[in-house]
Amino acid sequence: MGSKSIMFMVYVFFLIATVQAGSSRPGVFNVKNYGAVNNAAKDNAPAFLKAWTEACAAPGAYVKVLVPKGTFGLGPVIFNGPCKAKMIHFEVKGTLKASTDLNKFKTDGWVAFYEITGFKLSGGGVFDGQGTSAWPYNKCPLKKHCKLLPHSIRFDKLTNARISGITSLNSKMFHMNINLCKDIALDSITIIAPDLSPNTDGIHMGNSVGVNITNSNIGTGDDCISVGSGTHKLYVKGITCGPGHGLSIGSLGRYDWEEDVSDITVTNCTLKGTTNGLRIKTWEESPKETKVSNLVFTNIKLINVLNGVLVDQEYCPFVSCSKKAPSKVKLTNVLFDKISGTSASKEAIKIICSKSRPCEGVKLGDIHLTYSGTAVGKDGVLTSTCSNAHITSIGKQTPGACK
Ligand SMILES: *[C@@H]1O[C@H](CO)[C@@H](O)[C@H](O)[C@H]1NC(C)=O
Ligand SMILES: *[C@@H]1O[C@H](CO)[C@@H](O)[C@H](O)[C@H]1NC(C)=O
Repeated sequence: MGSKSIMFMVYVFFLIATVQAGSSRPGVFNVKNYGAVNNAAKDNAPAFLKAWTEACAAPGAYVKVLVPKGTFGLGPVIFNGPCKAKMIHFEVKGTLKASTDLNKFKTDGWVAFYEITGFKLSGGGVFDGQGTSAWPYNKCPLKKHCKLLPHSIRFDKLTNARISGITSLNSKMFHMNINLCKDIALDSITIIAPDLSPNTDGIHMGNSVGVNITNSNIGTGDDCISVGSGTHKLYVKGITCGPGHGLSIGSLGRYDWEEDVSDITVTNCTLKGTTNGLRIKTWEESPKETKVSNLVFTNIKLINVLNGVLVDQEYCPFVSCSKKAPSKVKLTNVLFDKISGTSASKEAIKIICSKSRPCEGVKLGDIHLTYSGTAVGKDGVLTSTCSNAHITSIGKQTPGACK
């Protein structure tokens, strides 16, 4: 054998060894190469973090952290930026299973992505929050002061982010929480939790500008989408919601640190069997003046929804509220148009604004709702109620004008 063919065999040997180790493609950081194992009982957070840290430090236009097919146990973990590459992609093909030991969670998140410009999360994988055993420990629906369970996926301080094609299952608290983000788009998201799971909001956001949520299927125990303080330029399109509490602006006006909310469009959505359809809720006794303005709800299908259109500025789910002071949140320029379907309760449209800050510029376009409940005769006629609101009709409504 000549030295050339020996060199060739050595080369082939190293080639095979490299491919087997899985470190074949540059710019791809497979968590399995950092010690992650396909085991639901193991905490793979240290291995995931090692892969992330290397990927985040790697320069270039694009790097990827890959979670391959399989089931990976995962304790709470924060993936910190900023990263060197222009775009860091977290691709999840497998299923991530959260720890069921609540003592392990020191912050209010399970998987958090923090301070990254140029971020992508995709891959068809599943984030299983394993909330079933945690839900009995959530006292927040009953008590004003309560300990929060961890949200499943947190997006904090992200700029230019795309989240697509992932599933969140049985979160302990919210499925996804978007905070302090700029230009973030979520598409083809699937969210699943039972209708009685407490505070499992689908996608919650706050303090963010430029949020798009499109073509997604959300069924959960609380709001499908909830819009918090400081949200501007939100675009929601093609969402199917149910079970759940509907699409909700708020609740707002509870805390003294809250900011304004503006420029929200919700279009081409279907709500099925939800407790609310389109809801704006602000607390009474709010400690600070804020403004909510320029909201458009259009092309909405309601199927057997309890409160189809609901503006509630006297929101207080606890017995402790005294109604001493009306909400200080001022609502301006709201359009409800092209809303059709069925209402499970007789109160299909309810617009209750603040006594001290009446709503201005509320417009009702074409609204056509029929009753899907069981009351008969006159009792089955839908109603619309409004108070402290200046309302303009720019279309045809059934039920007719507010009384
Ligand atoms: C959100 O959608 C609007 C168009 O409706 C688009 O101009 C904008 O770039 C989108 N934002 C992101 C982050 O994709
Ligand atoms: C509306 O959303 C549905 C999915 O819910 C989608 O199939 C349809 O193409 C959308 N229509 C428009 C006009 O965007």
